[in-house]
Amino acid sequence: MFSIQQEIDNQKAQESPKLKPIKPLEHPVQAAQHTPVYKMHRYYARRPWNVFENIIKHYTEPGDIILDPFCGGGVTVVEALKLRRKVVGVDLNPLATFITEMEITQLDINKFIKAFEEVKKSSADKIKPLYKTKCLKCKKDTFAEWFEWSNVFECPICHQEVILANAKKPKAGVYICTNKKCKQAFKPSETIKIKEVPINLLVDCNCGYKGLQKLTDRDFDLLNEIDKNFSKIVKKEKLWYPTDEFPDGDLEKDHGLFKKGIKYFSDLFTKRNLLANSFLLKAIQLNTSDEITKKFIYMCFSNSLRFTNRMVAGNPNWRGGNPEWGGHAYWQPNVFNEVNVYSAFSKLAMGIVRGKEFSNQTIGDFFSISDSFNEIQENKTVNLYNRSSHKLPLPENSIDAVITDPPFGGNVQYAELSDFWVIWLKDILKKDGIIDNKYEAIQTRHSGFESAKDEKHYEEMLYKIFKECHRVLKPNGYMVLTFHNKDISVWMSLHRAANRAGFKLPSEDFSENRGIIYQPPIQNYTQTFHTKASGSMLGDFILSFQRIDTIDDAHKISSMLSQEQEKKLVDKIESLLVYHGGADENTLMTVLVPFLMNEIHVFTDVANFNFESFLKKYFSLDSKQKKWFTKEQFTEYYDPKTKRLRPIDFVKAEEFSYNVIVSLLKQRHFVTVDELLSEVYTKLVNSHRPGIEAVNKVLDKYCEMYEDKKSKKKGYRLKTDFKPKEKIDKPYTIDQLGLFGEDSNTSNLSHNEIIQLVAHFALELGYKVHVGKTEQNKEKDFRIISSSMQFKEDFGIANANAFKKIKEIDLLILEGYEVPAVFEVTTSIDTAREAINDRFRDLFTILPNTKINAFVIVKDVDYNKAKEMLNSAANKKDKLNSRIRIIKVSELTKQFINEILKS
Ligand SMILES: C[S@@+](CC[C@H](N)C(=O)[O-])C[C@H]1O[C@@H](n2cnc3c(N)ncnc32)[C@H](O)[C@@H]1O
Ligand SMILES: [Zn+2]
Ligand SMILES: [Zn+2]
Repeated sequence: MFSIQQEIDNQKAQESPKLKPIKPLEHPVQAAQHTPVYKMHRYYARRPWNVFENIIKHYTEPGDIILDPFCGGGVTVVEALKLRRKVVGVDLNPLATFITEMEITQLDINKFIKAFEEVKKSSADKIKPLYKTKCLKCKKDTFAEWFEWSNVFECPICHQEVILANAKKPKAGVYICTNKKCKQAFKPSETIKIKEVPINLLVDCNCGYKGLQKLTDRDFDLLNEIDKNFSKIVKKEKLWYPTDEFPDGDLEKDHGLFKKGIKYFSDLFTKRNLLANSFLLKAIQLNTSDEITKKFIYMCFSNSLRFTNRMVAGNPNWRGGNPEWGGHAYWQPNVFNEVNVYSAFSKLAMGIVRGKEFSNQTIGDFFSISDSFNEIQENKTVNLYNRSSHKLPLPENSIDAVITDPPFGGNVQYAELSDFWVIWLKDILKKDGIIDNKYEAIQTRHSGFESAKDEKHYEEMLYKIFKECHRVLKPNGYMVLTFHNKDISVWMSLHRAANRAGFKLPSEDFSENRGIIYQPPIQNYTQTFHTKASGSMLGDFILSFQRIDTIDDAHKISSMLSQEQEKKLVDKIESLLVYHGGADENTLMTVLVPFLMNEIHVFTDVANFNFESFLKKYFSLDSKQKKWFTKEQFTEYYDPKTKRLRPIDFVKAEEFSYNVIVSLLKQRHFVTVDELLSEVYTKLVNSHRPGIEAVNKVLDKYCEMYEDKKSKKKGYRLKTDFKPKEKIDKPYTIDQLGLFGEDSNTSNLSHNEIIQLVAHFALELGYKVHVGKTEQNKEKDFRIISSSMQFKEDFGIANANAFKKIKEIDLLILEGYEVPAVFEVTTSIDTAREAINDRFRDLFTILPNTKINAFVIVKDVDYNKAKEMLNSAANKKDKLNSRIRIIKVSELTKQFINEILKS
């Protein structure tokens, strides 16, 4: 056994020391399935463990203290301890802190198994008879595993009773009347519920038979007896079950529960299962094992509740497996399963055993809990607080890193959903009612009730909590969040809150991705890109905020964007939309948030900035694709017949995806969708990150679906007749190129041959040249003739990004440190458009005062079209047409180049 400090030192020896300052995380991981410790009890929105392992390892050293102010299902806490970091976990929800505590507490597994068997033994005689039935195969007594129940409604047309389980269901919420003379479709929600009846039961008999059978009179008698004597039994056996009322809130409103007669949590159980659960709980209470062991039995019981309530939908597909409640809404399925409480509970002990074997091994006695922070600074390792994080019992400058996963707007109503469990666990949680969610940092979807919360509340709570994080965090500490939302206003709320609390995203010089990276989801979540509708998000973003000194709140707040800010933002968005061929909100936000935050200080300086209305003012939304386009794109590609946008013919982001995907598939021959996702999103920085559609297009065109025989994994490979997009031949020497002047000779020149030609003329004329980085990588000869351009200062360029862009241009002519001319060589109208409207436009946007002469070389046949493009209204407006010149390939003689360079 090691001391805490020894364990920390051992871990240090295994990790390489961190270079300071720590740069933001650049690489996501391939998210892994939950380990057994997280399978002991369900919690909402648990994030993949290795995503947090990756973050913790990157930002902290062994022995550092981490804070998670929204610790939820405990992933940060567990992974921190596994990696020998100390950790403070806080959550408003007592279920969350209970689960987290159980995940890290050391357990004597033998004691647990013994206590578990005792509980089973002492309750079996009471519970099992409630499910007694007869196996119709061997005719012996046995127990039902579950009963399948159905609602019975009155047909609004013929007024006969319809057992919904027996009725055809053409689509969700619609049933066909079972009366052969009627057969009308109707919606149960529009007629009267008469009763509920059990339809089938499942036996899993000792004789080997497992299957469904109809209920016999004896089964009905038992049921009636339970119903009739329910109160008597409760009284006689001194049973307890929660009698809490259902709160008036979002989840009631979602399904209109009050109207359906659901007023108490106990209404979510059948009488039989209410009795069974009460018997079980009583047996647990009376058990005499130690406190820790008992807590685990409670957890096992709590976890079993998800199987034994009436919200477990009956579904033919479930008939082989373990039916359970999905857990994200309170509702009343028309066909439901009443699962045997004793069986459900019995099955779950193994989950606890596996979970604890895992944590005993990986955390072991590094678990050392305390409720005082002072002790953590000394020889304890973990604090858990069940409270709201807007006030933390921690001193200033005491935390090395905040690592957390905050609620995402109104995605999940954590407290309301957890009430279901919490009310059964009052003993152990020392609570006496449902969760007080006044300070919960969420939005509700409905309003008109006391606990309703709007977007303002959400943002304000996040702000207060982030401000607390700022206070307790050490000066150079990071606050790292995972984040997932489709909704631009939630993005804005989160970032505004962080920024106001004194956090910013890193500068571009410090981190190319500006501290935002995309983290693909758990494997097998996705089968194909196509199944994912556009605009839907897979996975999460990881946001790494740096702590800055708080800007004082009275800071020059203006009521709206200045003209200059507005113009900058429009330009930025415009170039983004052109690059991506339209962009969904996530794509927009990954690039724009750092810009809004650090460049034009929208969050701290501008009181009224509504991003959605700003977008609406300058851009067009295609609501079908959920993507924004420039007004020009919209007019050019809008098809009035289909009322949809036609695909945009050249999208730069597709080219990036192409390069990444094809080179991956050349190396690997076959990749799964997850691997592909991870590659595309790891290789490309945010501003180049394509949307799913761009990736789809590349897959459609160059790849095919494939199932690997050995691993049975599905994924993609290159089409068997795959041809690279652009063939790069070895360029000829100038002599081999022959004579120019006539269309017939020049029209066959490849892209690289043209570059080579112009480069040679320039070299002969005594200039130096630089060939674009991409071409240099492909062609050794280009590396030989290129001069190096190492320092931007030599060329009088301050902006690193501008310098990088310049070096990507096909051909630069150099005279000392002057750049008299630059050439983009194009061989199709699409690439010509890209050169004009993308590369050169970008260049002149970032270097508005440059004197560089820009030339676009086009095939003769493309000349007129290219000229037209150059003279578009937008280009005229920005004076691009006077800064760029179009040249035909047939014009390229040495004489001509000489003239150009002299002028
Ligand atoms: C997205 S969940 C965290 C899930 C966790 N990362 C995991 O992987 O299991 C967000 C948590 O924030 C908690 N929460 C909401 N408002 C809070 C507040 N004011 N103070 C502390 N915790 C809060 C919720 O109870 C919920 O457990
Ligand atoms: Zn049998
Ligand atoms: Zn009918």
